Amino acid sequence: MKPLFIAFEGIDGSGKSSQVKLLAEKLTSDGHKVYTTFEPTDNPIGKMIRSVFSHKMVADEKTIAGLFLADRFEHLLNQTDGIIKKLAEGYTVITDRYYLSSYAYHGVHMPVEWVIEANRLCAELKRPDVNIFIDITPEISMERIAQNRANVELYETLENQKKVYAKYKEAIELVKNQEIIKLFDGTKSIEDLGSDIYQYVKQLNSISY
Ligand code: ADP
Ligand code: TYD
Repeated sequence: MKPLFIAFEGIDGSGKSSQVKLLAEKLTSDGHKVYTTFEPTDNPIGKMIRSVFSHKMVADEKTIAGLFLADRFEHLLNQTDGIIKKLAEGYTVITDRYYLSSYAYHGVHMPVEWVIEANRLCAELKRPDVNIFIDITPEISMERIAQNRANVELYETLENQKKVYAKYKEAIELVKNQEIIKLFDGTKSIEDLGSDIYQYVKQLNSISY
């Protein structure tokens, strides 16, 4: 069985983390080796990014885009638990965010084509077998964030989420010939959405059940 590389995408609060966890549990109980991961990472560059998001550090939007690119290279290539190493070890890797997030979030501040070009080497190193986009309106996602977060992070305003959502849709159109992107209805319950995603992943050719 070929291990899969699955990227979850969506605006903040769309339900990615919940679905990464559910899918990992289902695939693991089917007997697959599963490794879950996320961006920004826990590596030093990811930590620097998080300090910008929590307002402990200030950085220009272009700097932030550059930090995410460096964090992604480290995520892919680090020798301890990088994505490429984990896939080679036979793990199906599920990541909470990958380069589509950069297209959407940084595309708000600079030309999206530039962001796509800057990430080209990442795509060449490892393109997801599927990008799972959890589709939810910015209004609903902001309601969820308001209910669940004590602190509002840098990009978590309704105005910005609307821009990011529009950029996601624009970027999906731009890269649809290079990427496999599957949209799911994020307004379903966690369980129903989880079973839609699981059914989809199960029928992907490269996983044999
Ligand atoms: P993300 O990782 O995209 O920010 P989370 O999975 O952390 O999203 O979900 C954000 C909040 O919304 C959490 O409190 C979670 O319990 C809730 N949530 C997630 N998925 C759903 C859903 N399908 N329906 C209702 N609430 C959800
Ligand atoms: P994350 O912790 O996944 O937030 P959430 O759980 O709310 O979705 O991501 C933190 C923030 O990082 C989120 O606002 C999106 C942003 N981000 C970028 O701006 N560029 C990127 O390339 C990535 C991967 C994330």
